[in-house]
Amino acid sequence: MTPFDRDRCRALDDADPLAAFRDRFVLADGVIYLDGNSLGPPPVGMAEHLARVVTDQWGTDLVRAWNVHGWVDLPLRVGDRVAPLIGAEPGSVIVGDSTTVNLFKALGAALDLRPGRGTPVILTDTGNFPTDLYVMESVAARWGAQVRAVAPSEVESVLAGGDVACLALTHVDYRTGRRHDLAGLTALAHRVGAVTVWDLSHSTGVMPIDVDAADVDLAVGCGYKYLNGGPGAPAYLYVAPRLMEDFSNPIAGWFGHARPFDFSEIFEPAPGIARARVGTPHVLSMVAFDAALAVFDDVDVDQVRAKSVSLTSLFIDLVDGLDVELVTPRDPDLRGSQVSLRHRDGLAVVQALAARGVVGDFRAPDVMRFGFAPLYVRHVDVFDATQILADVLASGQWRDPRFSHRPPVT
Ligand SMILES: Cc1ncc(COP(=O)(O)O)c(C=O)c1O
Repeated sequence: MTPFDRDRCRALDDADPLAAFRDRFVLADGVIYLDGNSLGPPPVGMAEHLARVVTDQWGTDLVRAWNVHGWVDLPLRVGDRVAPLIGAEPGSVIVGDSTTVNLFKALGAALDLRPGRGTPVILTDTGNFPTDLYVMESVAARWGAQVRAVAPSEVESVLAGGDVACLALTHVDYRTGRRHDLAGLTALAHRVGAVTVWDLSHSTGVMPIDVDAADVDLAVGCGYKYLNGGPGAPAYLYVAPRLMEDFSNPIAGWFGHARPFDFSEIFEPAPGIARARVGTPHVLSMVAFDAALAVFDDVDVDQVRAKSVSLTSLFIDLVDGLDVELVTPRDPDLRGSQVSLRHRDGLAVVQALAARGVVGDFRAPDVMRFGFAPLYVRHVDVFDATQILADVLASGQWRDPRFSHRPPVT
């Protein structure tokens, strides 16, 4: 008997305090879903909930629904639901737009907060998500700044060098699963006078985050990953309350105005986090995200993190010795809730796994990514997935011409 046979995994699941949450998600039969870091599954009842909003609110009250059902304030209300998940005070998080657009707002505002320092430097790492890097370059070009992208392991020493105006990092690396020290780097950034912008897309919902205690300045994140807000769910933007007065939204839109329905020709920022709004909220997506977040009302995030460590450690143990290279740090303190494996033909292996019901994903050039969402992934799923992976690799099933052996061009 190996230390982790299936019975042992079942025993861990039987003792799991989060076990009941699995029933709150719609999960396809015969599928082991290890891609909640890309798109979370729908919570049970979502379809009915949205249908009710369409008929009982939109269909019944038509344009009056904006006020009758409080649609106008959804970005603030849903923001207050995200707030506890990142350790933020009520009134410091807004929900709306995409993560990309919120990054633009946050980075532009960050540079405005640090005027008069020559050519300001935005420090990031080379593993950051492409949209983060593109927006940084775009903001740098417009604000007369410069982006310096260094290896993740060099961020701390370069930051300590002292000429950085803005530190902009993704907390958990989308490709490798490596985790930065959010509190430590934020404290160092402040010592050298830099403003911090954190992308929390791959950490919110799977580990405790405390932006308030860590004194983070600005943060953004996706709604559709571990928060299960649905495809294209709106994103969130956090502004530290101490910076709110000075936060200048570089996209001055009418919903960020102090009195949008005065239709004034002169822009006057709304008080508080409402100034980070831009245009009309995407009501149906916002309603879906709001309902998805209700699941977290009953969740103890420390338990979520403990299970995440247990699942990812189990996966790492079980793939040891297979024909793959572990990309994610072995030390749980240095990783998020995903495990990435390198294989020379990773795309074909991921497709062969999907054909056998194990859904992970692939990130070019050769990384297979497996996300472990503790609210619905079980230890037996990890066990079964690794058995299937071992079989796919040993049998050479991934060589089947049905599977693409080249990353798609688009
Ligand atoms: C770290 C990170 N930031 C941003 C994004 C994309 O943001 P959006 O498409 O919502 O603008 C992703 C998408 O996977 C991501 O992984």
